[in-house]
Amino acid sequence: MEPRKITEGVFWVGAVDWDRRLFDSLIPLPDGTSYNAYLIKGTGKTALLDTVDPAMTGVLMANLAGVEKIDYVVVHHAEQDHSGSLPAVLEKYPLAKAVCNAKCKDFLMDLLHLPEDRIVTVADGELLDLGGKTLEFIFTPWVHWPETTSTFLREDGILFSCDLFGSHLSFPGLYVDDEQKVCEASKRYFAEVMMPFRPTIKKHLERLSGFAIKTIAPSHGPLYKDPSCIMDSHRYWVSDKVSNTVIIPFATMHGSTEMMVERLAGSLYRRGIKVERFNLANADTGRLTMALVDAATVVFASPTVLGGAHPLVISAAFLINALRPKLRYSAIIGSLGWGGKMAEQVSANIGGLKAESLGTILVKGRPRQDDLAKIDSLAELIEAKHKESGIH
Ligand code: FEO
Repeated sequence: MEPRKITEGVFWVGAVDWDRRLFDSLIPLPDGTSYNAYLIKGTGKTALLDTVDPAMTGVLMANLAGVEKIDYVVVHHAEQDHSGSLPAVLEKYPLAKAVCNAKCKDFLMDLLHLPEDRIVTVADGELLDLGGKTLEFIFTPWVHWPETTSTFLREDGILFSCDLFGSHLSFPGLYVDDEQKVCEASKRYFAEVMMPFRPTIKKHLERLSGFAIKTIAPSHGPLYKDPSCIMDSHRYWVSDKVSNTVIIPFATMHGSTEMMVERLAGSLYRRGIKVERFNLANADTGRLTMALVDAATVVFASPTVLGGAHPLVISAAFLINALRPKLRYSAIIGSLGWGGKMAEQVSANIGGLKAESLGTILVKGRPRQDDLAKIDSLAELIEAKHKESGIH
């Protein structure tokens, strides 16, 4: 992709990564992603906002081929996918300074080994005048790292929001053209990295509502000409509201645990409760995390293997615990042969959840009629709890 003009003197100069299929060696990226960098030319100074993933340094450099002078490289976030090309950019533009907050400066020196004399720090709310283009720095820490900053370009009403409002989506144009698709990709991104930080993101949203934002230019995915939809979505995601949904991450070895899952799913469905089941042997981890964004209840289902929970279920429990979703209730079900510590192991891995435990159902081998009746009772209890909490 070539540089793309956003407004007079403002250009997208990033890189689209159509073929990337995994982030953090964990989360599938079915639609690739992009690393957005922006060039802002004032009458006196020129600033580059962020760089790109090191794997795409060549693309950024090609996009900057006609740019003779860069005075500032604003660094919103020290993570490699945005700052990995920074050393190459500073080498090409020896007079350019990296501009960031104090925490980010530490990271750039620690993680990228940048020399201190190439970095200028700014304060929250500070302005940088490029000549007819005024950058206002808005600290937005803990969207998942502690140093993240956004920039508001006053004259053009553009919010450069870094990871916030981003989506893992490759795109041929510049702007969102399919709101539903982008919102889903953004939800995936929010779920994977930002969900644990809902309280701080809630505060950022409140603060940002005081800015006259015409366009949101995130660091991943297309730009938003109309910020309202994506901001409203984030407001819902960070709220305490949950949906009448039960998610069931499960593993099964000989089909007995799956029989329990099927019984539970059917029983919940008949009660008007939405069910999302994830067979962890082949589930998309991103879809699981997306379902966690507003699900009310999780039921882990695991066979007993090697005396404990199935490793896939332990892995899912660990991830769910780390993401701190707003789950209200949890339960554990599973089939075993003769004993073991399956339920104890799952419980030990979800200690960080604030979800009320609705109990454990263990059966030996294939579930019998009375076992299935216990599953129906769990569905009945979940329905009652949801109603009691006003979850519809
Ligand atoms: Fe897109 Fe936190 O890096």
